[in-house]
Amino acid sequence: MQQVNLGIIGGGTVGSGVFDALARNGALLSSRVGANIKVHRVAVRDLQKKRAATIPKNLLTTDWREVVCDPEVNLVAELIGGTTIAREVVLTSLKLGKPVVTANKALLSAHGEELFAAAKKYGTNLYYEASVCGGIPIIKSLREGFVGNRITALYGIVNGTCNYILTRMKLEGADFSAVLADAQKLGYAETPPDLDIDGHDAAHKTGILASLAHGFWINPKKIHVEGIRHISALDIKFAGELGYTIKLIGTVKKLEGSCRVQVSVYPTLVPNAHVLASVNGVFNAVFVQGDIVGDALFYGRGAGKDATASSVLSDIGDAMLDLKTGIKNRLPAFVPHECAGAVAPIDEVVSQYFVRLNVVDKPGVLAKIATIFGQSNIGISSVIQPEGHEGESVPLIFMLHYATNGVAAKALAKIAKLPTVKGKPVMIRVESFEQ
Ligand code: NAP
Ligand code: HSE
Repeated sequence: MQQVNLGIIGGGTVGSGVFDALARNGALLSSRVGANIKVHRVAVRDLQKKRAATIPKNLLTTDWREVVCDPEVNLVAELIGGTTIAREVVLTSLKLGKPVVTANKALLSAHGEELFAAAKKYGTNLYYEASVCGGIPIIKSLREGFVGNRITALYGIVNGTCNYILTRMKLEGADFSAVLADAQKLGYAETPPDLDIDGHDAAHKTGILASLAHGFWINPKKIHVEGIRHISALDIKFAGELGYTIKLIGTVKKLEGSCRVQVSVYPTLVPNAHVLASVNGVFNAVFVQGDIVGDALFYGRGAGKDATASSVLSDIGDAMLDLKTGIKNRLPAFVPHECAGAVAPIDEVVSQYFVRLNVVDKPGVLAKIATIFGQSNIGISSVIQPEGHEGESVPLIFMLHYATNGVAAKALAKIAKLPTVKGKPVMIRVESFEQ
């Protein structure tokens, strides 16, 4: 059988996971693909560091170039993260004609177009299944399984850390920072974790999915991103009373009759009856609507050593097949096919809303707020105000009918200026998942 020598750059959560997974299932992978896989070298930063996997000392080096440029290494896995050295690792490998497997969504989001072009130019390939949704084979599904569909909408719980935090806040009433510390201990969070909780990791992944689904590479600066830092126990409680669960959702939705696509990440009220509402803990899910297939759902672990290693092994298998058959662009990493595509500005996107205000409980307050919504042509579908004492602050919750984000934001800005409204209004969009 043909020998494939793998160079792994990075021996942290994912690198160790890949090393262990190959130790366990490398022979199985080899027999399925019909080529033999062996870990040849591993680059890390610190040779003395204690690792989750027992990587033999003689395989380790601190110089990634030694691995990438080793003539015996014919496949490279970039598993260090970040966008600077990782970019150099990937470009250097591609220039040498070596296929690369990466789990690095930040890198692809920032430099995807350049890296895919380099893969094409140097007659090799760049695989990235592990960059989105850990162990769920969503890249392969969009690229191959749904190749005959137009993707009308796609909704994803794509960040394991945020889903883990929101789930424990809802089910245990747990404190945000304590749960974040647990997510870090479990190896789910990015370094720094702000990438997760401010929604940027989810935006990197949503952008990659949107690019694949719509055939033009999404500029990450065009993605509207909101994280979960401002979500409070009160929001979770009132959303629950109204029959909803708050999830951080990456949305990719084609605007009717246009080449424009909504690409956004924000906390979303999901109806409890919808399957995404019961995706808990570190699990991720992607709900895809295709014009031929209809609804399809993907579910699995979105982060962590073994789930991510499973996707890296899948890519290693594809790259091994390329090397075995000599057909290097068998599955082109990304094919741009929609020149007219563009991301729709968030102000033009239409949503329904949950709004939580903190107001002074006195006569006329509700009427003034309702008037501003009315003048903005925004319908109110329901109101909750828990009983309070006159003159004291109380939460006031509105559920609003469809309005553009631009109109809703302007109305809220006016409401925030009322002397009886205290603090910043909270606005969370509501998704019905109807086409
Ligand atoms: P990690 O635990 O921090 O590991 C990073 C590894 O890279 C460490 O082993 C580090 O060496 C090594 N490294 C950093 N700079 C290096 C350099 N210049 N030369 C050689 N080695 C270097 O990170 P991770 O969680 O495994 O994540 C790796 C990638 O996978 C990231 O792109 C991440 O976004 C992505 N990802 C992670 C998960 C997850 O669940 N963790 C899931 C999907 C995708 P030392 O160990 O010596 O410090
Ligand atoms: N930090 C990421 C998450 C890792 O929590 O989803 C998986 O990409």
